[in-house]
Amino acid sequence: MSFLTLDHVSHHYFSKNNYTKALDNISFSVKDGEFIALLGPSGCGKSTILSIIAGIIKQTAGEVLLEGKLINDSDLAIGYMLQQDYLFPWKTIKENSLIGPKIGRSKTSEVENEALKMLKEVGLSNVANSYPNALSGGMRQRVALVRTLITDPKILLLDEPFSALDYQTKLKLEDLVSQLLRSYHKTAVLVTHDIGEAISMSDRILVMDSNPGSIAKIFEVPLELRNETPFLVRKHPKYQILFDRIWDELNKNESTSGQTKVVSNQNESQI
Ligand SMILES: Nc1ncnc2c1ncn2[C@@H]1O[C@H](COP(=O)(O)OP(=O)(O)OP(=O)(O)O)[C@@H](O)[C@H]1O
Ligand SMILES: [Mg+2]
Repeated sequence: MSFLTLDHVSHHYFSKNNYTKALDNISFSVKDGEFIALLGPSGCGKSTILSIIAGIIKQTAGEVLLEGKLINDSDLAIGYMLQQDYLFPWKTIKENSLIGPKIGRSKTSEVENEALKMLKEVGLSNVANSYPNALSGGMRQRVALVRTLITDPKILLLDEPFSALDYQTKLKLEDLVSQLLRSYHKTAVLVTHDIGEAISMSDRILVMDSNPGSIAKIFEVPLELRNETPFLVRKHPKYQILFDRIWDELNKNESTSGQTKVVSNQNESQI
């Protein structure tokens, strides 16, 4: 059975006088422990898909199932990691990483020890009692990762979590995150603009088309690449071959798609 299923999901954003068709008939499934990437141009609906999976917005049509249950009936914990880390500046790194258990009233000494262990794993034990403003962007994202993982989510939604970082930090974090997620056997959906990041971190890549957002093509990442760290994947001969195929697919989509389609309630028009 698939772990996560999107079945003919469409979404419209409504405003007073018009609506935007953000997603059109999206169907895909993700297996338990699988890491997939959603890759596509700005505005193709990647974040909208994550918000729907997280239950933050409700799709206008179709179904989303987690372990066979409708998303709103599921009590599985979902972890969400964004481009911005949203750390509380007045709380220490340790306190920030324990926000989830604190809100959920499950902050036991065992969970505290687990947080300290995870902070150590991501190389931050020496700053556990510091405040976020003393940390670099990459360190802050590592805190955000611990804060997400400490709630033991069954699925992780990653919305461009590395895109604000410099290239070197980004590569190191990609290595760390993929190693951690694999060792904890997490299912993950990564949203990215970066072909290299998608290839080096995921098992499958869903390339999206825009206006309205839809799945254009699905690429399987070869096994040889999946067993390497993201840094080493980029040096593998099969990496460039897959990169070029995805590049061509994205270019094909770009040349066929128009601008954002906003549909008025009365007449359909394109702006
Ligand atoms: N709250 C909203 N109200 C109206 N339209 C929205 C809203 N959020 C997103 N949209 C529109 O829906 C479409 C998909 O947006 P979404 O943010 O999901 O795209 P994205 O692929 O994540 O883009 P990016 O790569 O820039 O983050 C876009 O046309 C966007 O303008
Ligand atoms: Mg987005």
